[in-house]
Amino acid sequence: MTPGARLAAAIEILDEAEATRLPLDRALERWAKGHRYAGSKDRAAISARVYDVMRARALIDARWPGASARERVFASLKLLDALPCADIQALAGEGKYAPGALSEAEEAKLDALQPASADDPRWVRLNYPAWLDERFEAAFPGRVEEELAALNRPAPVDLRANLLKTSRDGLLQELKEEGIEAQPTYWSPWGIRLASPRRLRAVGAIREGAAEIQDEGSQLVSALVGARPGERIVDYCAGAGGKTLAMGAMMAGEGEILACDVDGRRLARLKERAKRAGLYNVTTKVHEPGGLSGMEARADRVLLDVPCSGTGTWRRQPEARWRLTPEELEAYGRTQREILEEAAPIVRPGGALIYVTCSFFREENEDQIARFLAAHDEFEVVDWRLQLPEGWPVPAPGKSDYLRLSPASTGTDGFFAALLGRRL
Ligand SMILES: C[S@@+](CC[C@H](N)C(=O)[O-])C[C@H]1O[C@@H](n2cnc3c(N)ncnc32)[C@H](O)[C@@H]1O
Repeated sequence: MTPGARLAAAIEILDEAEATRLPLDRALERWAKGHRYAGSKDRAAISARVYDVMRARALIDARWPGASARERVFASLKLLDALPCADIQALAGEGKYAPGALSEAEEAKLDALQPASADDPRWVRLNYPAWLDERFEAAFPGRVEEELAALNRPAPVDLRANLLKTSRDGLLQELKEEGIEAQPTYWSPWGIRLASPRRLRAVGAIREGAAEIQDEGSQLVSALVGARPGERIVDYCAGAGGKTLAMGAMMAGEGEILACDVDGRRLARLKERAKRAGLYNVTTKVHEPGGLSGMEARADRVLLDVPCSGTGTWRRQPEARWRLTPEELEAYGRTQREILEEAAPIVRPGGALIYVTCSFFREENEDQIARFLAAHDEFEVVDWRLQLPEGWPVPAPGKSDYLRLSPASTGTDGFFAALLGRRL
């Protein structure tokens, strides 16, 4: 493909993602399936352009209010690549597959575009919606710049070695033999960080269930549940099972995990993944209204990996920051409260409730826990540090009742976790 044709493809994908609300990675995949002639270099260039536009969108929109996908792509060439207008014009009009020549108005707009400066508000420089600024200040007092800059950089790809099938060293060796560069992760002794996400499809261990794609932060949070062989665990919002599988491996396949979700399709994927991973003690259940009847006080540990704004995963889905609305945030809060209420009775006395979000916002994290504890004196905060398996490094020792992870502080996705014990 010519450079101009790649730009046209980026515009098409941005338009499609906006219209369908598909995550960008899915929109890119869908485009690639319909355009088999695009080679790996084309796909990489198109993907880089699409993500670049998302990572500079606040700046582009501040400079060019109401810009279309086409205009955003041109603006990214000027603002990020510092291309002169004449070069952008040449690319735009380059052959019949290019986006088409710039109009006079577009040219004038591009000419006037100024790069980010220290005078811009921080949400423009750091690429997030202005209405979230107060929430970030509350989450990261005095550190918003550092945290949001890290949240605007691409995320690495981490694998978790499935200890039911291999060891981390064994997996590292296998990757080396496949010519895939990787290194052990710092916090999780199960984790491996790939040098490049490009070779992911070549990893045989993923196909065989010996490795799972899982961010190191998610591995840490799974470990924090403290699942032990022989226990009964309920994974209340199990989704496609990222954390279920990690807990299953910790339990060495002994005991039982009940994995639930409102979304049956995700649970179907979980089942397939569990089989591939060699886990036979996982059962799945689609939630019915009102929670899990007949399970009162029967679970040793209940993981609530609740639906949330997902701000902690913005590195992977830079488009998500432009899709979140105040109404959605409020709705997440309601669902989180409902889930806490439904799930609390399932925990046996002496057992634990582990509340997890991949959000930075107090209203989804600390405030939810404070409200829950005020209404449930049968629960108390337990020191999460004691729950991490022996030998695991402890992020931010001694500082907080809750585990908090973020790209800037731990090099992982952002997570919040509270460990609540049910009194005997
Ligand atoms: C953060 S995701 C879970 C990710 C999963 N635990 C993992 O590690 O891969 C949250 C999940 O909550 C589910 N969910 C949404 N509303 C729910 C509800 N009321 N009760 C239980 N699960 C719900 C969603 O379908 C979604 O799969």
